[in-house]
Amino acid sequence: MLSQKLEAALIDQMNWEIYSAHIYLSMSSHFAQEGLGGFSKWMFAQYQEEMFHAMKFFNYINEAGGHAKLGQIEAPQVSWETPLAAFENALEHEQGVTARINAIADLAVEEKNHAVGIFLQWFISEQVEEEDSVGDIVGKLKLVGDGGGLFMLDRDLGTRVFTEPTE
Ligand code: FEO
Repeated sequence: MLSQKLEAALIDQMNWEIYSAHIYLSMSSHFAQEGLGGFSKWMFAQYQEEMFHAMKFFNYINEAGGHAKLGQIEAPQVSWETPLAAFENALEHEQGVTARINAIADLAVEEKNHAVGIFLQWFISEQVEEEDSVGDIVGKLKLVGDGGGLFMLDRDLGTRVFTEPTE
C-alpha cells in the first residue's frame, strides 16, 4: 500500500530514470557522430541500464497497488564540447539521482513504509556503483587529455555490454 505522496515520488523517479536513459542515449548518438564508437557503445549500455531502472520502478509501483503514470520527458542535451564534458555532466547527473533516491528513502522512513525502504535499498547500492564507474572514467579522461590515450580508452569502453541483473 502506497500513500499518495510516496506513490507520486516513485512515479516521479520512474520518469526521471527514463529521462536519464534519454540523456545517455543522446550521448551515445553524439559519440557515434564524433567517431568514438567505444564511447557510443558504453553510453548505449548505460541507456539500457537506465531503462532497466525505470522498469524496476514501473513494476514496483504497479505491484504495490499504484498506477505508474508516464509523464512528459524533457529533451536531453544533444552535444558536448569534449568527452570529458559529457562524463562530467553524467557524474553530476548521477549525484543528482543519488540525492533523489535518498530523499524518497527518507520519505519511506518518515511514513514507516518498510516495503518501499527495502525496494529502495537496491537503488541505494546501485548509485554507489553508478557514481564510481562514471567518476572513474572522468578521472581517466583527465589523465589522457585529447591525445592518443583517448583512442585506447575508446577501445576499452567499447567492450561494455549491458547484462540485466538477476535480482
Ligand atoms: Fe538510474 Fe544512473 O541512475
